[in-house]
Amino acid sequence: MSGSAIEVSGLRKSYGANEAVRGIAFTVERGEVFGLLGPNGAGKTTTVEILEGYRRRSGGDVRVLGHDPERRERSLRERVGIVLQSSGMYPRATVREALEHFAKLYPRPRDPRETIALVGLDGKEDARVRELSGGQLRRLDLALALVGDPELIFLDEPTTGFDPAARRAAWETIRALRELGKTILLTTHYLDEAQSLADRVAILKDGLIVAEGAPTELVPERSRYSVSYVLRGERFEHVTDDPTTLLNELTTGALARGERLEDLRVGRPSLEEIYLELTAEEAQ
Ligand SMILES: Nc1ncnc2c1ncn2[C@@H]1O[C@H](COP(=O)(O)OP(=O)(O)OP(=O)(O)O)[C@@H](O)[C@H]1O
Ligand SMILES: [Mg+2]
Repeated sequence: MSGSAIEVSGLRKSYGANEAVRGIAFTVERGEVFGLLGPNGAGKTTTVEILEGYRRRSGGDVRVLGHDPERRERSLRERVGIVLQSSGMYPRATVREALEHFAKLYPRPRDPRETIALVGLDGKEDARVRELSGGQLRRLDLALALVGDPELIFLDEPTTGFDPAARRAAWETIRALRELGKTILLTTHYLDEAQSLADRVAILKDGLIVAEGAPTELVPERSRYSVSYVLRGERFEHVTDDPTTLLNELTTGALARGERLEDLRVGRPSLEEIYLELTAEEAQ
């Protein structure tokens, strides 16, 4: 099969006078994990729901596995799995019933029991959906997206509300899906999640993409390092493009004064620091 999994160009979406997405373009290759990041209200869910075929766009071009999702063709829906940002379908059904129901919508579903185990809901098969905790409900959402064994998976904040162990388990699941060659578009507010899962990310702000690339490539000035240490109980931090010289000066000075630089660290700015810099509101 040829072509990218997702191609977006000039995409716009207005809700009345509010232009939530203001002309964005990006491509997701097959087999890639692509992360959509950005503050609340940036337009992530709007974009994802347009790609899923749940929302009509106001302008631009969108191709998902070669189809226009707006046409909601069954042949496309069978190949796509979805975790919506807000869920709570089938409150009275049990976990098993919800999964069995969903599995029927797909031509070659995964075994529902296997899927329940995959997301760590074993033991909850017979619990009603409305009786699940917030994190368990999120796991069910993930299971519903996976039960059809789709080739393209949309995950809108898939691990929000997960405890730390569940988050790590979900990461393993997402990595396993990637190993199987699935394409994944995910949104998240956890920058460590994006950093550890995504091949590439796009950062949205006010409906525009302000940065795009592999998480490690996004450092605005590639040569920058941060150097920090604790001296007399206070932490000092420097940003430099020449850590060798700076460390030499700092340590020479400290040794000459008979002082020690405690907890001395040299590092690269994290994706989180870059994100905060790119999405910061300009000072008024
Ligand atoms: N159904 C709707 N009707 C009107 N406006 C909407 C609707 N859905 C979203 N919006 C507006 O569009 C903008 C983008 O919303 P969207 O849900 O896409 O943001 P998001 O990036 O997913 O945010 P979050 O991180 O909070 O989930 C917001 O200003 C929001 O108020
Ligand atoms: Mg959202």
